[in-house]
Amino acid sequence: MAGLKAETVLITGANRGIGLEIVKQLVSSESPPARIFATCRQPSAAQELQELRSKHSNVELIQLDVLDLASIEAAVNSVGTSLNLLINNAAILHFESLENVTMETMTKVFQTNVIGPLMISKMFLSHLKEAAQQSHLEGMNCNKAAIINISSIVASIEKCPESFIQQPFYSYYISKAGLNMASRCLSEDLRQHQILCAAIHPGWVRTDMGGLNAPLTVTDSVSSMMKVLANLSQNDTGKYLDWEGKVITW
Ligand SMILES: NC(=O)c1ccc[n+]([C@@H]2O[C@H](COP(=O)([O-])OP(=O)(O)OC[C@H]3O[C@@H](n4cnc5c(N)ncnc54)[C@H](OP(=O)(O)O)[C@@H]3O)[C@@H](O)[C@H]2O)c1
Repeated sequence: MAGLKAETVLITGANRGIGLEIVKQLVSSESPPARIFATCRQPSAAQELQELRSKHSNVELIQLDVLDLASIEAAVNSVGTSLNLLINNAAILHFESLENVTMETMTKVFQTNVIGPLMISKMFLSHLKEAAQQSHLEGMNCNKAAIINISSIVASIEKCPESFIQQPFYSYYISKAGLNMASRCLSEDLRQHQILCAAIHPGWVRTDMGGLNAPLTVTDSVSSMMKVLANLSQNDTGKYLDWEGKVITW
C-alpha cells in the first residue's frame, strides 16, 4: 500500500488532537511533504507545533481562525502557491440536548463546522486548481489535489437512531450532516477540475473532544486515516468513509 506523497498539505486546527497528530505523522512519513501548513487560531500558544517547526523545516505555522475571513485570506496569501491537500479538521462540539440548545450555539457550531470549511475550500480553490493542473498524475487523488473534510459517524442520518440514543448533541450532529452535504456538493462541482473531495470519520478518538473513554488512540486513528487518504482514487470522490476506509451510509 503506497503512502501519502502530497507535496503541500494544509491542516486546520493543527495545534491539538487529530490535527496535531496529522502534522506529526506527516513529518515522520516516508515521503514527507515539502511544505506542511499547520494552521491554528493562536500560533503563539501552540507549543507542540512550535517545537515541530523548530525541528522540521517543512512545517510552517500559520494563523487561521475558521470564523475569520480575514485570517483565511491572509493564510491563502502566505501559502502563496499551489496546494495539493486541504484537510478541514477544525471543529467544535457543544454538549446540548433539546432543552438547552440555543440560537447562539446552533449558529456558532454551524459557522465553525460547516461555513468555515466551505469558505476555506472556496478561498483555496485557485491553489487546488493550480496543483491539479501542474500534476502529471492520472485521475484524482490526494497527492494531486483534494479536499478532505473531517466528518463524524454522527452525521449519518441513517445511523441517527443508534448514535442519538447515546448523546443527543443537536448542533454538532446537524452541523456534521451539513458538512457532509458540503463535501458531496464540492465533489460534484470540483470533479471538472480534477479535485477530489471526501468526508472521513476518524473514529471515536481519545482527544479533548472525544474524551477519555474513547477506544481509539489519536495515533491509531490518524495512521489509519493517512493510509486511507493515500489510497483514495477517482472512484472515491464524494464518498463518506470511516478511518479504515469503510463506506458509511449517509
Ligand atoms: N475525537 C473524536 O472522537 C472525533 C469523532 C468524530 C469526529 N471528530 C472530528 O475530528 C476533528 C478533530 O477533532 P479532535 O478530536 O481533534 O478535537 P479537539 O481535540 O477538540 O480539537 C479541535 C481543534 O479544532 C480547533 N478549532 C476549533 N474552533 C476553531 C476555529 N474557529 N478556528 C480554527 N480552529 C478551531 C481547535 O483549536 P483551539 O485549540 O484554538 O480551540 C483544535 O485545534 C473534528 O472535525 C471533529 O469533529 C472527532
